[in-house]
Parts: sequence; C-alpha cells; structure tokens
Amino acid sequence: MLRILLNLLVIVSVTTADALPNTKLLNDGNRIPIVAYGTFGKTNEVAIIKPAVIKAIEAGYRHIDTAAVYKNEEQVGEAIADVISRGIVKREDLWITTKLGLDVGTREGVLTSLQTSLNKLKLDYVDLYLIHTSLNLLDLPEHDYLNVWKGMEDIKKMNLARSIGISNFNSSEINRILANSEIVPSVNEIEVNPNYVDLGLVAYCQSLNITVMSYAPFGFLVPRPYLNYTTSLNFENPVLKRIAQKYGKTSSQVMLRYLMDRDTIPIPRSTNEERMKLNFDILDFNLTENEIYQINELNEDAKVYDFYDESFFTALADYYGL
Ligand SMILES: NC(=O)c1ccc[n+]([C@@H]2O[C@H](COP(=O)([O-])OP(=O)(O)OC[C@H]3O[C@@H](n4cnc5c(N)ncnc54)[C@H](OP(=O)(O)O)[C@@H]3O)[C@@H](O)[C@H]2O)c1
Ligand SMILES: *[C@@H]1O[C@H](CO)[C@@H](O)[C@H](O)[C@H]1NC(C)=O
Ligand SMILES: *[C@@H]1O[C@H](CO)[C@@H](O)[C@H](O)[C@H]1NC(C)=O
Ligand SMILES: *[C@@H]1O[C@H](CO)[C@@H](O)[C@H](O)[C@H]1NC(C)=O
Ligand SMILES: *[C@@H]1O[C@H](CO)[C@@H](O)[C@H](O)[C@H]1NC(C)=O
Repeated sequence: MLRILLNLLVIVSVTTADALPNTKLLNDGNRIPIVAYGTFGKTNEVAIIKPAVIKAIEAGYRHIDTAAVYKNEEQVGEAIADVISRGIVKREDLWITTKLGLDVGTREGVLTSLQTSLNKLKLDYVDLYLIHTSLNLLDLPEHDYLNVWKGMEDIKKMNLARSIGISNFNSSEINRILANSEIVPSVNEIEVNPNYVDLGLVAYCQSLNITVMSYAPFGFLVPRPYLNYTTSLNFENPVLKRIAQKYGKTSSQVMLRYLMDRDTIPIPRSTNEERMKLNFDILDFNLTENEIYQINELNEDAKVYDFYDESFFTALADYYGL
C-alpha cells in the first residue's frame, strides 16, 4: 500500500514538472517560470495593465511580477480571472509574484498587507511574496526588515504564499537574515542589466541557492525620463549587435538571454504587443561563456534604481505617482 502511494507520488510530481516547462527549481522545492512579465508603470495609467497582462499570458508568459506600490494589483487580478475563465490557463499554471507595501516595518503588518493584495488580486494565495526593499523609505517609526522577515515566514507557514523572498537586499542584509531566521529566502529580486551587471551580489545569492530575479533588464538602453544619466550603451552596441546577428535575434533579446544564461530570471516590461512577444521569444538559443563575458565587460556600474539616493526616490515617486 505504502509503495503504491509512493509510486503515485512520484508520478504526480513528474507530471507536475512536465506540465511546467521552462521552470527552475527554487531552494524550497517549488518550480518558478524562468521568464517573468513586469508590470511597473505610471499609477495613473494602470488601466493599460489588464489588457497588457492578458496579452502577455496569451503570448506565453506564465510569471507576472507586481507589487502593492504599483497600485495595479486589481488590474492584474482582473486579467488573471479573465484568462482562467476563458480556459487559456489554470491557476496552477501561473506564477504570481507580488511585494509587501513600503508601509510595513513589523512582523504583524505582513499578514494584513498580504491579505489586502490577495483581495485585489482575487486570489487565495500568491506564488511568491517579496519584501520590496530592506530600506525604511517611508521613515516609519518602527521598522526592521528582520522582524518583517519573521512575518514572511508566518504567511508561508499559513500557505498564503508558496515561496517567500526579498528584493533589493545586499549581502550583509542577507547574512543578517540567514543568521537569525528559520527560512532562507528563495529569491532576491535585484537590478541586473549590461549597465549594472552586479557580478558579486548575483554570485553571492547563487552560492546560497537564492535565485536571482533580474529587474530593469534593459537598463539605460530604454528611456528613463526621470533620470539624467547618459550611457554610451545602446541597442546598436557592436558587442550586442554581433551576438544578435549570430543567432538571428535582436540586441534586446540578447540582453534578456544574457540574464537567463547567468541563471537569473529576467523581468522585461512592455505594454506593446509586438515587443512583449519579442521579449518572450528567447527560449530557442543561448550564449556561450565568452559572449556572457563580453556583455559583463559592458558594465558601467550605473543603476537605474538607486534607492539609497533620496533625490532618485523623490524623482521616481513623482514620475510614477507612487
Ligand atoms: N523589485 C524592485 O524594486 C523593482 C524595481 C524596478 C522594476 N521592477 C520590476 O521589473 C520590471 C522591469 O523593469 P522596468 O519596467 O523598469 O524596465 P525594463 O523592462 O528594463 O524596461 C521597460 C521599458 O523598455 C521598453 N521596452 C520593452 N521591451 C523593449 C524592446 N524589446 N525593445 C525596446 N524597448 C523595449 C518598454 O517600452 P514599451 O512598453 O513601449 O515596449 C519600457 O519603456 C518592472 O516592470 C517591475 O515588474 C522591480
Ligand atoms: C537548491 O535547492 C534545491 C531544492 O531544495 C536542491 O534540490 C538543490 O540541490 C539545491 N542546490 C544547491 C546547490 O544547494
Ligand atoms: C548593505 O546595506 C546596509 C544598510 O542596510 C549598509 O549599511 C551596508 O553598508 C550595505 N552593505 C553592502 C555590502 O553593500
Ligand atoms: C536632472 O537635471 C535637471 C536639470 O538640471 C534637474 O532639475 C533635476 O533635478 C535632475 N534630476 C535628477 C533626478 O537628478
Ligand atoms: C544551448 O543551446 C544548444 C543549441 O541550441 C543546446 O544544445 C543546449 O542544450 C542549450 N543549453 C542550454 C543550457 O539551454
């Protein structure tokens, strides 16, 4: 009897893995889709998010990245309900990542904040819940990301999030969590792109079996109107162009594949149907070690999202309406 049950378990787990191609194993045993669809945009333009997420899922994306601060969880939720009701996907085929509001600095605040997000998303669990940043950006009187992490452990134990992780954490902050917690974060979502290749932090996370999700994958190669930084990199860059020509792809696709071949999960954002399809069409080629190295060399150590810079955060919040 026990053997039959065990065999059944094996069959079920193999079937689940087969039903989820293009996934990667996290340190908690869950499988996460290896390309995500980003949804961060101006909060007075959230109406475009519902049709965009529907089109993204129709185009093949299975992983959606949102956050409480994006103020678009309702639109994401409507899109999910739409594609599920039309039989395009089942809930278990999707991977929904959202992030804790910036207004939570304590253990107790986590559950309430997640419940608000779940209501907006019209879901009874998320696949991944992240602490958006270690920093106390809203100057809350009571704030410690370690206490917040304990709240994250609570909601994982309640099965309200299948996986839990962090975003914008550096190595010392990760060490403090590891030394004082039960659960190792599954994911650290950080900025990685050819302007900011961040070899050290990516390698450190990977050495701990913490999966890196790479946000702002196009760096400064796309307009960042609220910033003054000028880069010498563009989509015509000869290194990117040469690699793109070799594989019959575009420079933008090479940038995303570069992130995948560094074993990270890129999170491109596009509300343009053609570009969202282009950004997903990166599963049929891969780069050589040498090509990865050549793109690493383009590094300018220039971050789009420097949350340590207060004037940056003010400019960002003004531009996006946070
Ligand atoms: N955890 C965090 O703190 C954090 C911070 C930032 C971002 N994120 C996540 O990461 C996602 C991506 O970051 P992001 O939105 O800043 O930037 P991104 O994906 O690097 O760039 C988005 C911009 O690139 C354009 N674009 C998209 N595909 C293109 C292509 N193939 N060729 C040329 N232009 C293209 C888009 O315009 P069109 O729409 O017109 O195509 C848009 O203006 C966010 O949406 C969010 O989900 C997380
Ligand atoms: C990472 O975690 C997964 C799931 O627990 C495990 O199977 C794998 O062996 C781990 N990898 C490393 C390098 O520790
Ligand atoms: C990490 O961030 C903390 C602030 O939480 C800062 O004091 C520390 O210097 C940073 N460490 C690294 C390695 O960047
Ligand atoms: C960019 O430059 C303009 C003009 O010099 C200035 O007013 C603005 O504050 C700068 N923005 C940032 C984020 O530094
Ligand atoms: C890389 O691409 C080659 C050729 O398409 C393929 O044989 C190989 O399995 C791919 N490797 C990975 C890690 O995807």
